[in-house]
Amino acid sequence: MNKEKDIVVLGIESSCDETAAAVVVNGRDVRSNVISSQIALHTLYGGVVPEIASRKHIEKINQVIEEALTEAGMTLDDMDAIAVTYGPGLVGALLVGVAEAKAISYAKNIPLVGVHHIEGHISANYIENKDLEPPFLCLVVSGGHTHLVKVQDYGKYEILGRTRDDAAGEAFDKVARAIGLGYPGGPKIEKISHEGNPHAVEFPRAKIADDPYDFSFSGLKSAVLNYLNGCKMKNIEIVPADVAASFQQAVTDTLIEHAVRAIDEFKMDKFAIAGGVASNATLREGMRKACEERGVAFYHPSPIFCTDNAAMIGVAGYYEYLAGTRSGLDLNAVPNLKLGER
Ligand code: KG4
Ligand code: ZN
Repeated sequence: MNKEKDIVVLGIESSCDETAAAVVVNGRDVRSNVISSQIALHTLYGGVVPEIASRKHIEKINQVIEEALTEAGMTLDDMDAIAVTYGPGLVGALLVGVAEAKAISYAKNIPLVGVHHIEGHISANYIENKDLEPPFLCLVVSGGHTHLVKVQDYGKYEILGRTRDDAAGEAFDKVARAIGLGYPGGPKIEKISHEGNPHAVEFPRAKIADDPYDFSFSGLKSAVLNYLNGCKMKNIEIVPADVAASFQQAVTDTLIEHAVRAIDEFKMDKFAIAGGVASNATLREGMRKACEERGVAFYHPSPIFCTDNAAMIGVAGYYEYLAGTRSGLDLNAVPNLKLGER
């Protein structure tokens, strides 16, 4: 019997502060996953500086792609498609990946597939969970996004809820800065929280009156800032580990409460988490327990596939490629691209 030909995708990601390339075979088999992180550079400024990010992407992208191909033991001639993040993200940063992908596509005559960054984050779940197939519910929590999504099929999404203001990761980053932990805040808050009491300060769990699935984290962020200011004015000692742990608990409780509501209402038997904040152990364990209690299978990517990477773009690109999606050489960066839009 003839084995069907493998479909090999080169994924490229440059939407924020990681320059990344990966080779993915048949949508699930990651042959290489190279990530050049700019975190150390941006830490100096307390957050991502868009101009610096774009410049660094230009310096790194060729090298990162070459490394991804070498690690996979392949060349551009083995690629069936080039998948690239074209939004949402920082426009200058996105443009570097998009221009690179278009150049390769044109020079080598390889089909080009533009990928939505959030679709990439969701698709990261397919890498290590070979049995996972839509439909399922997914909570996408990153530095730029907080979405509760019904994944109806590959490439077919219904957004149930989204943040009205700050993203969950953004709240982690801002609170970390306020308690002097620096950027990126998520991992630092998680680490220091191990020594803190999550019930030391009862921060608010915001509810949106007209939409139970939407999120709001700016009130929580302000509550933390007010608490810190109040302590300083009253000369009360601030215990950063307690503040971090209490904040982390408030975010986690809110995310899980929304997730559980969706599980109960939509009666889906699979739930996944994705995005940088999905590497947080408190969130993972809370979600795992909530799913277990309801007989729902729980999925999450390893931390390396939670934060920005190109393997997830290669996976999403594979399914888009199978569905017939092809981008032209007029593909442009779309900084505020909506999920499900082309
Ligand atoms: O997915 P990602 O790499 O980039 C975006 O698409 O935004 O997510 C980065 C975000 C940052 O806000 C970072 O603080 C947060 O994810 N993050 C975490 C953890 N690791 C990264 N938040 C909480 N706990 C973590 N362990
Ligand atoms: Zn991301």
